[in-house]
Amino acid sequence: MNQSRLQKIPVRKRKNQFNHSVYIETYGCQMNANDSEIVASILEGQGYAVTDNPMDADLILLNTCAVRDKAEQTVRNRLQHFKGLKRRRPDLKVGLIGCMAERLKDRLLEEEKLVDMVAGPDSYRDLPRLLEELKDGRKAINVLLSLEETYDDIPPVRINSNGISAFVSITRGCDNMCTFCVVPFTRGRERSRNPETIMNEIRDLQQQGFKEVTLLGQNVDSYLWYGGGPKKDFAKQPEDVRRRAVDFAQLLDRVAGAFPGMRIRFTTSNPQDMTREVIAVMKKHPNIGRQIHLPFQSGSNRILKLMNRRYTREEYLDLIDFIRREIPDISLSHDIIAGFPTETEDDHRDTLSLMEAVRFDYGFMFAYSERPGTAAAKRLRDDVPRGVKIKRLNEIIALQQRHSRERMQAFVGGESEVLVEGPSKKNKDEWMGRNLQNAVVVFPATGREKPGDFVRVRITGATSATLRGERVD
Ligand code: SAH
Ligand code: F3S
Repeated sequence: MNQSRLQKIPVRKRKNQFNHSVYIETYGCQMNANDSEIVASILEGQGYAVTDNPMDADLILLNTCAVRDKAEQTVRNRLQHFKGLKRRRPDLKVGLIGCMAERLKDRLLEEEKLVDMVAGPDSYRDLPRLLEELKDGRKAINVLLSLEETYDDIPPVRINSNGISAFVSITRGCDNMCTFCVVPFTRGRERSRNPETIMNEIRDLQQQGFKEVTLLGQNVDSYLWYGGGPKKDFAKQPEDVRRRAVDFAQLLDRVAGAFPGMRIRFTTSNPQDMTREVIAVMKKHPNIGRQIHLPFQSGSNRILKLMNRRYTREEYLDLIDFIRREIPDISLSHDIIAGFPTETEDDHRDTLSLMEAVRFDYGFMFAYSERPGTAAAKRLRDDVPRGVKIKRLNEIIALQQRHSRERMQAFVGGESEVLVEGPSKKNKDEWMGRNLQNAVVVFPATGREKPGDFVRVRITGATSATLRGERVD
């Protein structure tokens, strides 16, 4: 999932039929964006309207990311800013939710006194009670993690939506324990969501006019529904329960088959868990996005082992070969970490050579950031100097930019099916949409199309981030 962009997602103003108002600022990955929609749904039930202006709000929530230190520093700065606001408006309450809440527990509440309320990713159903505590003048906290919670019966309120594409969570938590990663500690054990409730949510979206859904999980290929409960308990289930279980390939097949008029995407895939069945399902359904986000983190087998990624460079390249043979027009993206502990120049060159071997369409690239409590932080010294990390990261970014330009250029002269999302930001006479490979396409409006339409566009030009073209049908 893309945790790279520290995105501040604006929320749309809603009707004023409520007696309270909440402003939610979301950082981090798509899962957090979707969680904010679940939180908005729970709070609407408590009489809170969602506002996009913190000055209008009597409750401010920061839905936070803990994956790198920089993300946390940004949130701390925002909290200082809101502390200033609180001085002028004593009634205003500020809550910390999401992964930083889980990681820091009561620290920002008790020691640093930056917030009034703390709620971890599995405790959002408890928000009504926590808000009552606040009303009574008490500080409120719930950071319990759950083995079952998937919020599967809560219809997300699409607060930051273009009305065309939406996220649908299918798993929560992660059991992989990559040694650099804080997510298993902040989001808990992996569990899957009931496929019936997934289908119902997509049906609702379709009825509201949505045209695209992205199935979300830290590791979607690991999806396994056997009646509820954590993935780790699957093996203990009776034989008949195990036989009836639904895996990711089956879920994807069901979703794509039931909603042929919608585009189906998914993220994130983990190389060690992606199955060939998933590729077969993608091949079978033309409405599944021709795009796989397949983080590899490092091209060096020695580093992959230290990261506890359970694949080798060779296995990764074999998987890519297989995918490209089966689906030649696939778009591939990655996540890479530069400067993991003990990384040498040779390891770094292995990463660059893997990139050269694959030539990814795009990627998300990070300097290693030590996270307290992770296995890497406990066992390995963060010994690659900051300057070296940045130099390697810059080399990786420069190479990716070259590959992105080349990959985008390869669309020129061909045709793409574009799902129109809305007017282009730069020019209101042009539409912006995405093709099946998820590349952004801009084309002049003809007067015959509207947001939500699928149109054929001949691609006439490309930069490293945008395709340009003309409607042909
Ligand atoms: N499976 C998750 C991964 C979440 S973290 C998903 O759905 O994407 C997203 C990315 O952040 C990871 O793939 C990794 O490249 C990067 N990342 C995670 N922990 C990091 C750390 N400690 N330092 C730098 N980058 C990190
Ligand atoms: Fe993190 Fe690895 Fe899971 S990157 S979210 S522990 S797959």
